[in-house]
Amino acid sequence: MSAFAGQLQSVLSPAGSAAGSIASLSWLLFVGAALIFAGVMGLLAWAVLRRATQPVRPRLWIIGGGVVFPLAVLTSLYAYSNLQTPGWLAQPPAGALIVGITAHMWWWEVRYRDPASGQDVTLANELHLPLDRPVWLGLSSPDVIHSFWVPALAGKMDMVPGRVNHLLVEARQAGVYRGQCAEYCGEQHARMALHVVAQAPAAFDAWLAAQARPAAAPTGPSAPLIERGRQAFLAQRCNACHSVRGVAEQGRLGPDLTHVGSRLYLGAGTLPNQAGSMAHWIANTQAIKPGARMPSSKDMDSATLSALAAYLEQLR
Ligand code: CUA
Repeated sequence: MSAFAGQLQSVLSPAGSAAGSIASLSWLLFVGAALIFAGVMGLLAWAVLRRATQPVRPRLWIIGGGVVFPLAVLTSLYAYSNLQTPGWLAQPPAGALIVGITAHMWWWEVRYRDPASGQDVTLANELHLPLDRPVWLGLSSPDVIHSFWVPALAGKMDMVPGRVNHLLVEARQAGVYRGQCAEYCGEQHARMALHVVAQAPAAFDAWLAAQARPAAAPTGPSAPLIERGRQAFLAQRCNACHSVRGVAEQGRLGPDLTHVGSRLYLGAGTLPNQAGSMAHWIANTQAIKPGARMPSSKDMDSATLSALAAYLEQLR
């Protein structure tokens, strides 16, 4: 699927303004450290190979190499990194898009304000951003400390229970970027990924408008199967933890599934959302992601499982 092509999780492939500063600082450190290392090795070679009659002035080397040189290098690095790093803002800049992100063990809840209705729209595990617009992320957690990190966009920011931290990001290049929880948070810390889709503003607006709509009623030849799946969703009590807007809206413990079929991945970056993934995930959750809060539905009969998966896959 083309959506999976070219997704990057690299500090050295920046696609956002803050990540750009981090990348140029990193290169400066790599190159500077390499030059200093080469210089020190050169001096070492000279010290070993020099003839004993050549004079050495220890005071010059100790004061010059041990005090003046490091002071000059570290002071200029400090000044340069201060120029590169934007100051911390207490308020979102004008025109910024505001998005709330809550880290859970082990998935991401994402909240947008729908400009049409003024209502919050709750989504999961996928963040869409309009290109070239500042986005102010409000980051929190209800359980343990997690850390938000999308290397292509910006540095890390911890997500701490009881407080809201902020991170300003701005995507400059369209693409899909992988993010990863960067603070050890328990058994499935490693499978706590999120995907960021940076897209043109018009495409972003259309996406958000679609995500804000409640689940559509099934139509077409597969409608009876999907209706069976919808009945199974309620009968199996999936809605105790998961919401589908327009169908069952009380579930708050797990990801909102209103448009789960539109997402790139299932289980917070665990499985690509392809044909067969949904049924596999539902039947084998604990084998795929041991410790996840969702039980495996191993004993569900295959007809019910197929109908349930068909229902969830068409929630786009
Ligand atoms: Cu969440 Cu590590």
